[in-house]
Amino acid sequence: MNTTVMNVINGRVDLFSARVPRYTSYPTAPHFHAGVTDATLRQWLHDLPEGMPLSLYVHIPFCDTLCWFCGCHTTVVNHYSPLQSYLKHLYAEIANIGPLLKGHPVTHLHWGGGSPTILAPDDVRGVKAALEESFAFAPDAEFAVEIDPRGLKQPMVDALTEAKLTRASIGVQDFDPKVQQAINRIQPYEETRDVVNALRAAGLKSLNIDLIYGLPYQTRANVARTIELSLSLEPQRFAVFGYAHVPHFKKHMQLIRDETLPGAEERFEQFELAHRLLSTAGYTAVGLDHFAVPEDSLAIAQKNGTLQRNFQGYTSDDAPALIGLGASSISALPQGYIQNKPEVPEWRKTIEAGGLPVARGIAISEDDKLRRGIIEKLMCFLAVDLALFGKTTADFPREMAALQPLIAEGYVVVEGSVLRVPQHARAAVRLVASVFDSYLANSKAVHAVAV
Ligand SMILES: C[S@@+](CC[C@H](N)C(=O)[O-])C[C@H]1O[C@@H](n2cnc3c(N)ncnc32)[C@H](O)[C@@H]1O
Ligand code: SF4
Repeated sequence: MNTTVMNVINGRVDLFSARVPRYTSYPTAPHFHAGVTDATLRQWLHDLPEGMPLSLYVHIPFCDTLCWFCGCHTTVVNHYSPLQSYLKHLYAEIANIGPLLKGHPVTHLHWGGGSPTILAPDDVRGVKAALEESFAFAPDAEFAVEIDPRGLKQPMVDALTEAKLTRASIGVQDFDPKVQQAINRIQPYEETRDVVNALRAAGLKSLNIDLIYGLPYQTRANVARTIELSLSLEPQRFAVFGYAHVPHFKKHMQLIRDETLPGAEERFEQFELAHRLLSTAGYTAVGLDHFAVPEDSLAIAQKNGTLQRNFQGYTSDDAPALIGLGASSISALPQGYIQNKPEVPEWRKTIEAGGLPVARGIAISEDDKLRRGIIEKLMCFLAVDLALFGKTTADFPREMAALQPLIAEGYVVVEGSVLRVPQHARAAVRLVASVFDSYLANSKAVHAVAV
């Protein structure tokens, strides 16, 4: 196994130096290739079974200011004209692809970024109306938007409400002023609270809060205080991400000096603390990094075994086809994955020429499907029963050999055809999953640390 994936030091697995993918897809994005084209997408859409429900993802890759920790695909803009131009082409993309998906009900819609709330309120209405014109929305369709609460005003709340928002996902990260300064994101608690109150007053029922641990100058005391303040906002869900520091890949992260970052064991303790505080407050841990009140659809999906993982993380969205719209967005179809052109100018040019702006993708083989299933179960439930896939451990001799050091550490337990990562070892689950990744050994991609 690649040493950047799992280091064994003096016979022991060094969990903290392990670098493995986050497995929001399998095969992972670095293995997408240009052999998958506009024509492939047209064929795959054409072959979708009649009436198969769809999930739509719309990417808005713009922000007002740059948070130095940001790993998202976004650009900072100082005026609205790039957004106007982007929207013009987004409308064209929606109009081009909509007719290829006639008869498929849309059950889920997610806007991410970047910051979708950088749009003018009327443009929020406009994009939703364009989607409704080109696609058939189910009457109870979920509509989630990633919201940056900084500077968000009532007209945006009104526009989101009119657009039938069902879940707001609010970026918080950490409420400590020193941490906020070090990540170039000043966001007072009071401002966040006012946005949450305004959304609730408008009838919003479901709220998610994004937090990050492992940020510069962050301590366990900061994490505890941030969670205490966040709990007062009574969200239905939390996402608690580990800061993925990849300064060689995202140059602006060089503005965060290494010596200000908590070490690997402190990161681990910060997450354990978050886990304990949220569990004590009545939230159910979902997958690796999400928490939800027991009556939330995510907690229910975990309980009844239907939880899934996609590019937005953990989801109860069970639509078998996800269509990505906007630059860099990824579609996940039963036949494979397809990514749109990541750079706005190229994405725009293809749309202007009437094409679907495909950059790359990958068709999924039967072996990929099997491994994807195993990896997804591990990532969602910390356990997989190979018998579900008609297999036993004997069918995976290479993988079982690679698992031996992890079994010896107690990071994974094998009981017949079941592989289980005990709760105390949950930080090892990506590493366990990576053993089933048949692309990883030859991969040149560099990933953030697993813990
Ligand atoms: C697109 S942003 C959310 C919406 C909005 N732009 C905002 O920041 O409020 C999605 C989330 O990804 C997480 N995130 C971004 N960069 C990250 C990184 N390098 N490591 C871990 N989480 C990150 C943050 O928690 C952020 O809220
Ligand atoms: S974290 Fe959100 S607001 Fe900050 S730069 Fe990234 S996408 Fe933009």
